[in-house]
Amino acid sequence: MRFDIITLFPELFAPLLTSGITRRAYEGGLVDVRLWNPRDHAEGNYRRVDDRSFGGGPGMVMLAEPLFKTLSAIRADRNEAEPAPLVLFSPIGQALNHNAVATWSQSAGAVLLCGRYEGVDQRFIDQHVDQQISLGDFVLSGGEIAAMALLDAVARLQPGVLNDEGSHQLDSFNPALDGLLDSPHYTRPEVWQGHAVPPELMSGHHAHIERWRREQSLRLTALHRPELLAQARAEGRLTRQDETFLQKKL
Ligand SMILES: C[S@@+](CC[C@H](N)C(=O)[O-])C[C@H]1O[C@@H](n2cnc3c(N)ncnc32)[C@H](O)[C@@H]1O
Repeated sequence: MRFDIITLFPELFAPLLTSGITRRAYEGGLVDVRLWNPRDHAEGNYRRVDDRSFGGGPGMVMLAEPLFKTLSAIRADRNEAEPAPLVLFSPIGQALNHNAVATWSQSAGAVLLCGRYEGVDQRFIDQHVDQQISLGDFVLSGGEIAAMALLDAVARLQPGVLNDEGSHQLDSFNPALDGLLDSPHYTRPEVWQGHAVPPELMSGHHAHIERWRREQSLRLTALHRPELLAQARAEGRLTRQDETFLQKKL
């Protein structure tokens, strides 16, 4: 899997690529990340990558030509029969979610374009961008944080990256958890500032612990994301035991 990132700030990616457990995915080449700066493909002494917006108004716009040259260099380097999709991070795009990340985690990768300033010249988007992805209904200063969110979420789904192979299956939104939210977690000490760990977790009884975790997932999902619970119900993923629990006061 290979991701080519077009960014004016490649240095922002260093902490992601060298820290934490997902570092294994990048360093081992499981998720091959290559950084491309459009400034290296810009003309003139100043290597300009942006200019003022036609029609006036504040802010600069990323020039189409350096982006086109960068993309051409990436395409030549990848040398693929079927060109990898070009993804632009933008508030216009579909919001990133578990299903999209799961699909990307099984893909061959993509070229990711991180916008800056007011955004990218629309003619480049019209001609070359295949898909737009948003991180949510708010505005970032640039697409780099969105690209890092995608890379991180994809990397942790790669086999062998997490210490415990099955652990991501027990994370929120995962089909193995029926699309529900994860249950709460506790660690030592058993009593902290007068607050004890739920006794079910200390029982040593595997089935009781599993049931408690399931009920906590149901409770948290009902409280915080009722639409996910409704979806799980509509898809027949709730058991009769689940429904009995949900009828109680949560
Ligand atoms: C300051 S923003 C531009 C915002 C744009 N003028 C607008 O109002 O939609 C600069 C860049 O940050 C990135 N960006 C901003 N918000 C984003 C979001 N919610 N999701 C993904 N990328 C985002 C995009 O690449 C965008 O081109």
